[in-house]
Amino acid sequence: MTAPSRTTVAVVGGGPAGLLLARLLHRSGIDCVVLESRDRTYVERRQRAGILEQGTVDALRACGAAERLDREGLVHDGVELRWGRRGHRFDFPSLTGGRRVWVYAQTEVVKDLVALQLADGAPLLFDAEVTGVTGADAGRPVVHYTHEGLPHTLACDYVAGCDGSHGVVRRAIPRGRLRTYERVYPYSWFGILAEAPPSGDELVYAHSPRGFALHSMRSPSVSRLYLQVPNGTDPAAWSEEEIWDELEARLAVEGGRKLNRGPVTQRAVLPLRGSVTEPMRWGPVLLAGDAAHLVPPTGAKGLNLAVSDVVLLARALAERAATGTAAALDAYSSACLERVWRAQHFSWFMTTALHTEPGQSPFDTRLQLARLDRLASSPHAAAELAANYTGLPLT
Ligand code: FAD
Ligand code: DHB
Repeated sequence: MTAPSRTTVAVVGGGPAGLLLARLLHRSGIDCVVLESRDRTYVERRQRAGILEQGTVDALRACGAAERLDREGLVHDGVELRWGRRGHRFDFPSLTGGRRVWVYAQTEVVKDLVALQLADGAPLLFDAEVTGVTGADAGRPVVHYTHEGLPHTLACDYVAGCDGSHGVVRRAIPRGRLRTYERVYPYSWFGILAEAPPSGDELVYAHSPRGFALHSMRSPSVSRLYLQVPNGTDPAAWSEEEIWDELEARLAVEGGRKLNRGPVTQRAVLPLRGSVTEPMRWGPVLLAGDAAHLVPPTGAKGLNLAVSDVVLLARALAERAATGTAAALDAYSSACLERVWRAQHFSWFMTTALHTEPGQSPFDTRLQLARLDRLASSPHAAAELAANYTGLPLT
């Protein structure tokens, strides 16, 4: 594809946020160009999130990107939390009035969105690295990028920074106008993908004296599992047997069965961090997804927040194009941030309730167990967990 030089919305980043935003804008007749620094294979194989909320599925359906998801996605009506070697199931439809979640990997969402974009002939450039944005202060942004080794510029009305946590678009906003709130958690997740049938039908989040573990899945023959590990852990230092033994010890319940084991095909360590950058808009510069906020993965909110941001952003840009009014655009940042902080709180709750801090005192462990026991004994506490896990409706 030849490098374009002018568009209405320059979308920086071809992750879930940028690709979905492009679909939504395309359907509203707003032209945009997606610039993605990595190649297509890399973007489509990057192993990340796996749980889609109802609102995310609704958004993908609304832009015609859910055909394969509806065929292959696994619908989950509940989740299990384990502590004290006992399992407690939370039934989503009965606790939330009918909401549920889908297990469908982020890699597949990205593949589906890329295929649609390319099938429409809509501009999506891989290997196009954005190096900076100028002119935003004068309301005439110009995006600078390199493609096939050559420098290019893209003039636009708006720049959507969907470029993830290490993105460059945020730098177009003067430092004094942004505030970043951050929390670094004192542990990481060791995630593996394994050629092994899932060891149960639903996800299991486990609190144990040895630390947190999560059992998830990608398909009837592929499991996805996570272990809490110290920051700085080298994933290559664990043998496959050590990984499975540790998962089994942490996920064990009285009278439970052994895990299905199989070859580990991918492994990676992810530090846990929460951060929020405010505001998410400065004039023609709009931030969405991980470019504006990160949540620790316990509770699977990262991808879903990226989707709700771009649904609100696409709506605001469509209103602006159709009526000339900027009310929704002016409200974009505060509307997103309200959801972001709710999700940040839920992710913090799930993380701190289930993980063991280095040197954690027996007193703090008893407090954790008291918090978890409350989820099992109070229908209100269970309903609050289910409402947050399945996602708050997008208004
Ligand atoms: P990203 O997916 O990061 O996409 C940003 C895109 O911008 C990338 O494709 C990047 O290559 C591109 N880009 C960056 N800089 C430039 C540039 N200068 N020019 C052009 N393009 C650029 N969430 C969960 O819910 N559960 C999980 O288990 C989970 N695991 C994760 C594991 C990892 C290692 C990471 C990093 C995140 C994980 N997340 C998880 C979070 C979830 O994947 C993210 O919230 C989600 O990817 C956000 O989508 P995004 O489009 O905002 O950002
Ligand atoms: C997965 C990741 C999460 O962060 C989570 O809370 C549940 C599932 C997953 O990758 O399947």
